[in-house]
This record gives sequence, structure tokens and C-alpha cells, in this order.
Amino acid sequence: MTPAIETRGLSRRFGDVLAVDGVELRVERGTFYGFLGPNGAGKSTTIKMLTGLLAPSAGAVAVLGRDMLDADAALDAKRRVGVVPENLALFDNLTAEENLTFVGRMHLLPRETLRDRGGELLALLGLDAEGRKLSADFSHGMRKKLALAAALLPNPELLFLDEPFEGVDAVTSRVIRDLLAGYVAKGRTVFLTSHVLEVVEKLCTHVGMIVRGRLVEQVAMADARRDGRSLEEIFLHAAGGTAADPRALGWLGGESP
Ligand SMILES: Nc1ncnc2c1ncn2[C@@H]1O[C@H](COP(=O)(O)OP(=O)(O)OP(=O)(O)O)[C@@H](O)[C@H]1O
Ligand SMILES: [Mg+2]
Repeated sequence: MTPAIETRGLSRRFGDVLAVDGVELRVERGTFYGFLGPNGAGKSTTIKMLTGLLAPSAGAVAVLGRDMLDADAALDAKRRVGVVPENLALFDNLTAEENLTFVGRMHLLPRETLRDRGGELLALLGLDAEGRKLSADFSHGMRKKLALAAALLPNPELLFLDEPFEGVDAVTSRVIRDLLAGYVAKGRTVFLTSHVLEVVEKLCTHVGMIVRGRLVEQVAMADARRDGRSLEEIFLHAAGGTAADPRALGWLGGESP
């Protein structure tokens, strides 16, 4: 079977900045892949190119065996994937229920399936009392949860989630983690970015690290565990992080204003 995601020399330039630089990814189906890296490393830019939201400057992307640079093949891939992008693709002037109805109709879900799944998703994510509220009036965490519900509704083969846990409360975070673990256990694939290393360490089977646009490390979590390496160690090493100099910002907390 073709891998869930495969890229060759994937690159994206913004003016003088090479935000993504020759990334070669291969993510097998049934993988829970964590895509990590410091702020500005190129994670969201990569996800946008993998999902057809942004054109690469160079390189090739195949998602579920479909060439994302071919319009027809990309459309076929988009029918099969769920995405929670960085800026949450919601329709602000629609209610939560209407957002889900719109997505369900686009995916040609039967009305009854749509209603049942929509109700179940809103209840599971603690949004059932908010179904009639415009998504523009949602809090940040509520918007994130609604975007996730919309991505899950069509039962995709592959999920792309850009920071799904950011801004989400602890109870919902647990619900989402369990739900995603069950989804991968059934053979589906998740590709997510997150800065919450403890969550990534618990959930992910494979981890890739991007630093200044370059994929600098790819590890199977089973190998990392066997070698006794924590994800934080791997991350700090890959990102070249060091402890803060105790003399830094010496004025902070001092006498003068
Ligand atoms: N539309 C754009 N125009 C110009 N520069 C951009 C654009 N989008 C991203 N960049 C730049 O590309 C680089 C990578 O940004 P990206 O959003 O992919 O980082 P990230 O790894 O997702 O970071 P974070 O962890 O903060 O979300 C940054 O230098 C950013 O300023
Ligand atoms: Mg980002």
C-alpha cells in the first residue's frame, strides 16, 4: 500500500526566507506522527503544503498515494483527509451545528448520518449546549474543538492537526487524546504538530523534528524508549536549546521601574 504521506524535496520560500527546505517525509498508514520544532521552524507551512492549502516552491507531495500538485488527484485526496489548520477553517457567520451541516453536505453524508455524528461529536467535545451559537462568538478553545469536530465528521482516512491541544481544557484534551489513539488503533493515520512534548511522547509512534525549515531528526518512539532517550532530550538536542543564562534580564524584578 502507498504511504499516507510522502514528500520529495518539499520546499517553500517566502521572499528571502526559506521556510521549508527540502523536506523528505514518509509516513506509513497506521502511524501517529508528531511533527515538532521551535516556533517559526516551518511546521504550519509544511502542513499547509501537505493539505493543498499552500503551493510548494519546489518538490513533490503525495497524500494517500495521490499527487497533490495534480488538481484532480488533490481533490480526491482532500475528500479523504480531515484538517485542523493553524487558523481554523470555520464559517464565522454559521452556528456550530450549521458549520457541521455544511461540511457534512460537502462530503455528501446522508442527512441522518450527519445529524447523528454531528450530535455525538458536539456532545463528546462539550459543545452540545453551544450548538446554536455563531462560531464567531466562540472562545478560542471552543473554536478549536468545533474545527476538530468538522475534521472528524466525514470519517477521514488521515487527519492533519496543527496544534490540536493548544488552548483546549484538560478534560477535553484527555477526550481528544483517547479519541485519536482509538482512531490510529483502527489503522488510520494522524499527523500533528504540538509543543506539548508529554502528550506527543504518550501518543505518537513516530516523531519528526524540523529546525529552520530542515527535517533534522526522525525517530520511532519505540527506538527512543529503548535507547532511554526522552523526547525533551531529543528535542533540545535537535533544536540546539540550552538552559537560560541566570544573568539574563538582570533588571527584571529589580528595584527601578
Ligand atoms: N505567509 C507568509 N508570509 C511570509 N512569511 C511566512 C508566511 N507564513 C510563514 N512565514 C514564515 O515562515 C517561517 C515558518 O513559519 P511557520 O508558521 O511554518 O512556523 P511553525 O513551525 O508553524 O511555528 P509555530 O510553532 O510558532 O507555529 C517563519 O519564519 C514565518 O515567519
Ligand atoms: Mg505553526
